[in-house]
Amino acid sequence: MTPQQLERIARKHGTPVLVVDHAVLSENYATFRRHFPKVQAYYAVKANSNPEIVRTLYLAGASFDVASWPEFQLVYSNIRRLPARERQKFIWDKIIYANPIKPRETLEKLDPYKPLVTYDNLEELKKIRRFAPHAGLVLRLRVPNTGSMVELSSKFGCDPGDAVDLIESAFETGLVVEGLSFHVGSQCTNFLNFVQALNMASAVMNEARSRGYTIRILDIGGGFPAPYHSDVKPIDVLAKKINAEIDRLFPSDIEIIAEPGRFIVATAVWAVARIIGKARRDGKTCYYIDDSVYQSYSGIIFDHCSHRIKAFKPGRRSICAVFGQTCDGLDTISLAEELPELDIGDLVYSENIGAYSSASATHFNGFAPAQVVHVNLTRR
Ligand SMILES: Cc1ncc(COP(=O)(O)O)c(C=O)c1O
Repeated sequence: MTPQQLERIARKHGTPVLVVDHAVLSENYATFRRHFPKVQAYYAVKANSNPEIVRTLYLAGASFDVASWPEFQLVYSNIRRLPARERQKFIWDKIIYANPIKPRETLEKLDPYKPLVTYDNLEELKKIRRFAPHAGLVLRLRVPNTGSMVELSSKFGCDPGDAVDLIESAFETGLVVEGLSFHVGSQCTNFLNFVQALNMASAVMNEARSRGYTIRILDIGGGFPAPYHSDVKPIDVLAKKINAEIDRLFPSDIEIIAEPGRFIVATAVWAVARIIGKARRDGKTCYYIDDSVYQSYSGIIFDHCSHRIKAFKPGRRSICAVFGQTCDGLDTISLAEELPELDIGDLVYSENIGAYSSASATHFNGFAPAQVVHVNLTRR
């Protein structure tokens, strides 16, 4: 998308606006599939649950990782009209409920669909046994998240030393452990995390096999980094490492799945906002825009992500601050942005803002999340 196209869309639809380019979305999905030919890609809906995004990926043949009953229903809305057997096959083959902690009510609702669900502790196992005995299980391991932008290992994953006991406990109560999973942390640029995780998973699988339990699925999670900066190594470097380790460590008939979120959606979305205020404070120009960290820029808070602000206007750039539209001091988008001299009414934009942005937008201060405009949306 060129800045000219983006500006034209914003002038037509108004601001704040998020522009989703479905051609980029499909291309990112295809890129992932090309680099990981043996891996079934389950799009992590949590990264951006816009129904049109889910629809495009569904039509492209994606599978889905859901984290809640509403996300399950969102994916389900795409298969509702399939014949019952096909619909059930889709759920078995193409949906994983990958939130290791689930309320009992959700388990009860999931049970008739017999989906794959993750767990990482005994209490969860007991709950699944009681409320979703027909689910297939995937045990989540705790693996190193060193250097990842979002760290998940302090919240989820069993100690690898406890893994085989947890597998055994599941089988003993009549449940079936179909797979092992891990997550190396989101925006993982330290590729050694993947290498270590794969080695840990292989050791657990081998020990489980020696005790008579064969695990048929390996779920390598998310974490595939979006190219936010030029120092993020490209996906083919990571793919070579992961594919080589998979070939070296696992039997050829193992099913490999992954749960990419950010990699699929980050670069497919742009945000455009309007300057609504301008002040000079402590010798620095401060701009106020009609979006905020409580709306499209929520990733600054929840995702530990920074988003550069760019101007459509040319001009000599100087350091300035950019704040959001709410009354909260936390609503600071950047204290050191480089922008040309801008006026109230001028438009600014951010690239690569598709992941964990509108997904965590709120109505704080009464401001609605930005409207979403879709481009290159082709439907069969
Ligand atoms: C279980 C699980 N799978 C997949 C993802 C998606 O990760 P990413 O967006 O880094 O690919 C997340 C993100 O938090 C997650 O918790």
